[in-house]
Amino acid sequence: MAGFVCRVPSAAGRGRPAVWAVAHANVALVKYWGKAPGPGHQPATTSVSLTLDGLTSAARVEERPANRPDRVAWAPPGPVADLRRFVEHARTQLGIARPLDVLVTSNFPVAAGLASSASAYAALTTALAALAVDPPSVERLAALARHGSGSACRSMFGGFVQWRPGEDARAVTQLAAPERWPLAVLIAISGSGPKRVPSREGMRRAQETSPFFDAWLATNAADLAAVREAVGSRDLRALGTAAERNALRMHATALGADPPLLYWEAATVAVVREVWRLREDGVPAYFTIDAGPQVKVLCEPGDSQRVGQALAGVPGISHVLRSRPGGAPRVLREPPEWAFASCPPPAAGHGRA
Ligand code: PMV
Repeated sequence: MAGFVCRVPSAAGRGRPAVWAVAHANVALVKYWGKAPGPGHQPATTSVSLTLDGLTSAARVEERPANRPDRVAWAPPGPVADLRRFVEHARTQLGIARPLDVLVTSNFPVAAGLASSASAYAALTTALAALAVDPPSVERLAALARHGSGSACRSMFGGFVQWRPGEDARAVTQLAAPERWPLAVLIAISGSGPKRVPSREGMRRAQETSPFFDAWLATNAADLAAVREAVGSRDLRALGTAAERNALRMHATALGADPPLLYWEAATVAVVREVWRLREDGVPAYFTIDAGPQVKVLCEPGDSQRVGQALAGVPGISHVLRSRPGGAPRVLREPPEWAFASCPPPAAGHGRA
């Protein structure tokens, strides 16, 4: 996959050297959809996700001279208001005194229902923590990442991760390490433009206006128990059945919202039907869909070739991304190979403050 490009000007005259961190996106098997009162995106439901190694964000953080403003940017450039707010909040939490130069990028389509904000804020939280005088625990960092994007807290861990409401240290926990269950996750890409309604707005609208929202909340406990048990016993059929059910119920709340929310395109439905056809042919494959048209399909690694070919043949699917369970975020001393490889003029690519 092509990386986005941008280089930050040299570190001369600044504080400590730049820090890089990478983190992976995650796919929710039991969805976070709806909020509870409280700061920093408190969830209304307990969710479970799988961290995905193929979908990665990278953050570069460097201290600036004391008299300068923060410089905060996405690559390619995007709106920075939320990012800037997060950096200000994180600086206070982590005790970072100096202004910062921050750049965040991803190796997959952003804002298309692929949870790019989760990996982006997890990578950024990890990079910022490396500048903290007293680095906090990963549980505290997960609570911090949640202020950028709710689902980012789950990307602070690898493998299967549970996030339940609350501020305590056990709110986000790893249920199983990535190597415990080497599933394949295929993502059928049906459009990489920005999604029409961001998940934050979508869940707010569903929560406030959908008559199905209370039923959604009422089914969370049963879906959670089913997914937890399936992860414990590595039962793909049980996992997939519960994940499909949970995704369709989440989308039912969206369809019932006023005005209604339909995240699907024709290709989304066609992929769902293809997954069901594969199952009729004896291939255990199961889908889930977040707040966008992309369908993520879980299957055994031995079936991923066949499933990938089937998905690529669905009309409207431009390509299929392949992923495996991924690990926790990592701090790097230099940029990952795919990110920030070349150098447009800093002012153009870097959104100066
Ligand atoms: O973290 P956000 O604000 O991008 O919301 C994520 C919402 C879903 O992707 C639809 C579900 C989930 O649990 O990730």
